[in-house]
Amino acid sequence: DASASMKGLKVMITAGPTYEKIDPVRFIGNYSSGKMGYAIADEAARRGAEVTVVSGPVSVVPSEPGVRVIKVESAREMMEAAEHEFAGADVAVMAAAVADYAPVEPALSKIKREGGEPPVIRLVKNPDIAAALGERKRPGQTLVGFALETDHEMDNAADKMKRKHLDMIVLNSLRDKGAGFGTDTNLVTILSADGRTTRYDLKSKREVACDILDQICAMR
Ligand code: PMT
Repeated sequence: DASASMKGLKVMITAGPTYEKIDPVRFIGNYSSGKMGYAIADEAARRGAEVTVVSGPVSVVPSEPGVRVIKVESAREMMEAAEHEFAGADVAVMAAAVADYAPVEPALSKIKREGGEPPVIRLVKNPDIAAALGERKRPGQTLVGFALETDHEMDNAADKMKRKHLDMIVLNSLRDKGAGFGTDTNLVTILSADGRTTRYDLKSKREVACDILDQICAMR
């Protein structure tokens, strides 16, 4: 096994989608399965790290022993758990697909189909979890984000890395076949804050997790 040991490191990973309640039976969500985040968690645990996943609603489970999972639903809940865990973490990887907006106030009872005009759902901006952690990052903490893009991929990713004070960003594009949501594979380009860019081939999410952790270990 040529991979660097991560023994003694505390790693926090966000994974999966967030659900933003519209009423007691409906939500705004997205297609994230959690596979990418959990693959990073599994691989970090295999390398000896102490791993916590702050996870939105997903059906995947860790495959390595010892991975701790904190289940949350909304972006606000994810923010609270992530801020708490980040305080004691050496490395954080933000692989979750966090909803950017949430309904202003969820309806207390099920919105009915009968009568009147179709409802208008007013939205408010959710907190940006990665950016919040970026602002409170201490020396020695490594903060890694993802960028899910559809166009102007490299520019958008570089911009997000800067704006959120990330040390590294993993770009995946919805334009690439076999990349992004739900698939067992991903195709990524890793940009680091020191200006290096590495483009990888299409591979399994577990292998992508290895590439990401190799880069993290090399920069620490
Ligand atoms: O879960 P899978 O089905 O395996 O799919 C994996 C994935 C496509 C979800 C994953 O590889 C990925 O790209 N995750 C990030 C998706 C995303 O929302 O990207 P973004 O470009 O909108 O956000 C940029 C970064 O900020 C991300 O690290 C994101 O986690 C973080 N963010 C964004 C918004 C927000 N309110 N809070 C955040 O922390």
